[in-house]
Amino acid sequence: MFESFANLVKSLYPDSSTVALHEPVLGEREKSLLSACIDSTFVSTVGPYVEEFENKVADLVGSTYAVATLNGTSALHAALLAVGVEPGSLVITQPLTFVATCNAISYCGAEPLFVDIDPKTLGMSPKSLRNYLENETRYKNGRLCDKRSGKYISAILPVHTFGFPCEMETLVQISGNYDIPLIEDAAESLGSRLGEKHTGTFANAGVFSFNGNKIVTTGGGGIVVTDDAAIAQKIRHITTTAKTADPFHSFHDEIGFNYRMPNLNAALGCAQLERLDHHLNAKRSLANLYRRFFEEYDHVTFIDEPANTHSNYWLNSILFKEPKTLYDFLEYTHSLKIYTRAAWTPMYKLPMFSSCYRHETGETEEICSRLANLPSSASANLKGNV
Ligand SMILES: Cc1ncc(COP(=O)(O)O)c(C=O)c1O
Repeated sequence: MFESFANLVKSLYPDSSTVALHEPVLGEREKSLLSACIDSTFVSTVGPYVEEFENKVADLVGSTYAVATLNGTSALHAALLAVGVEPGSLVITQPLTFVATCNAISYCGAEPLFVDIDPKTLGMSPKSLRNYLENETRYKNGRLCDKRSGKYISAILPVHTFGFPCEMETLVQISGNYDIPLIEDAAESLGSRLGEKHTGTFANAGVFSFNGNKIVTTGGGGIVVTDDAAIAQKIRHITTTAKTADPFHSFHDEIGFNYRMPNLNAALGCAQLERLDHHLNAKRSLANLYRRFFEEYDHVTFIDEPANTHSNYWLNSILFKEPKTLYDFLEYTHSLKIYTRAAWTPMYKLPMFSSCYRHETGETEEICSRLANLPSSASANLKGNV
């Protein structure tokens, strides 16, 4: 299988000696908008492209507000602060994620608490969340807290892993029952939907990343989307150094952050958004191709979008039957400069999060030992392969 896979990938990306996991597609339109932005001299955090980019993303996902930031991590940090995550509290998240999810929680002075993933979605398992909340929490001063530590639970933060939508309707219901704010880490899922509703729009707020490895990029960038005017206003304020509107005096009414997206990055983003439909189609065709390829092999399962969802297939993923085969596969493909990747190390195995409480992590452990991400750039040459 390894050799046929390598041949397939080389035919998909014939022009490069190395095959990246995910690379951006950039061209004349990006150059043109960047050039116009430079000519305007508005290259920093004020400028028309920022507003245009925010409006375009809000329209695309169907949110009332969108606030663009330096990156997805700062967007997560600001969103968590805006819903009231406070020092010493706990934020429930999943251990299968990029480290930024847990870093953002830590920047608030809070601590991640891990519940398991659902292997069907790779996102937070509603069952595991419900089980934790029913059995391991109690109320203190009218607020939900963790029974063991007595720490308040200040938010729930599921992740749409690799672009696969997680079960948002149920997570919204559970968080509502306990009156805990819910934030979606939709960093990887621009273009992914549950039914007709876009990921990132189910919770109090959702966060997308526009890092160079995402489906569309602003170089570095992020955005928070929300329908809540107060949350949007708070995020806009704290990401702009908490500067008040006084036209004559520079006044800041709390400790804020210099987190707003520069106009230069937003210009790149406006050009990139024009490519999104094409990228979504190309990535769906690529997913179909990989799915068909792996059907022949009993020891590998291609991970499909969950039922009733439409995934952006940001990173195509397969599961080997045996962990050993995963390592042989990674070794073989890397020797040919085909940069496949194992899933992230579960967050509770990282030194800074190893003492965080984990309620259940069996599925995460299992998936992480056998999952590989495949080269998934939208630049794949699909002619003759589809
Ligand atoms: C799941 C997840 N959360 C958060 C982030 C952080 O985004 P950024 O790299 O733009 O800070 C990323 C991506 O990089 C991510 O994949």
